[in-house]
Amino acid sequence: MPTAAVLVAAGSGERLGADRPKAFVVVGGRPMLEWSLSALRTAGIAPVVVVVPPHGGAVTRGAGRADPGDPVRGVVAAFGEAGGAGIRSVPGGETRSESVRNGLAALPSDVGRVVVHDAARPLVGPGLFARCLAELDQGADAAIAAARVTDTVKEAGADRRVVATLDRSRLWAIQTPQAFRREVLERALAQPDDVIRAATDDAMLVEALGGRVVVVQSSPANFKVTTPHDLEVAGLLLARR
Ligand code: CTP
Ligand code: MG
Repeated sequence: MPTAAVLVAAGSGERLGADRPKAFVVVGGRPMLEWSLSALRTAGIAPVVVVVPPHGGAVTRGAGRADPGDPVRGVVAAFGEAGGAGIRSVPGGETRSESVRNGLAALPSDVGRVVVHDAARPLVGPGLFARCLAELDQGADAAIAAARVTDTVKEAGADRRVVATLDRSRLWAIQTPQAFRREVLERALAQPDDVIRAATDDAMLVEALGGRVVVVQSSPANFKVTTPHDLEVAGLLLARR
């Protein structure tokens, strides 16, 4: 079945606090999103729709001036010209889910399976895409990369009083890639805007509709670059590749 990817790269990277949108920050010598584009290419997944910041990457952080060039479209176009066939970019939305929805709307009509991946996870290995997709063939509506939780997780109230200790053996920390049957993801993202905006991942929206979502074991090494510390660690690991 024809498969495509939506690479979400439209976030501003508030917590990273760099001079440009997070996905375009250089890590291990390349703009962050290129690592995921390379992994998708190695996995043989195309076309890829890259969802980019709606204003061409112009940021007004720090000194309060917009980025002079257009780093965003330049990066996507350059990767395409350098042999990354089937890559195009579309503007993102205000929240991650809205960005996914924009990407999904740009896919060719024959595409039946979609892999959604965060550009903020540059350490993803190509094999993980295939392992998620394989679960769709086994009857899942969605298959999502996840790492077993190694810390003990407790629930506490606003007063910091612990109310529960969760059973760690059943807990998974959810990552991307997340693979979906296309019509399932479309239905999930057609829910009311307030539901969409509150979602922290797409699989949650499928769960809300009663869809069958399964986890695919991944490693904590596929972490999301969120803070300057994460960027430093990712840089050290990617420099070895
Ligand atoms: N994302 C997106 N559109 C948005 C928000 C997020 O495409 N409106 C993407 C980001 O580019 C990232 C992924 O979703 O690849 C995960 O989001 P997150 O790590 O939260 O990135 P940012 O939203 O950019 O970071 P922050 O929340 O610190 O601003
Ligand atoms: Mg965010």
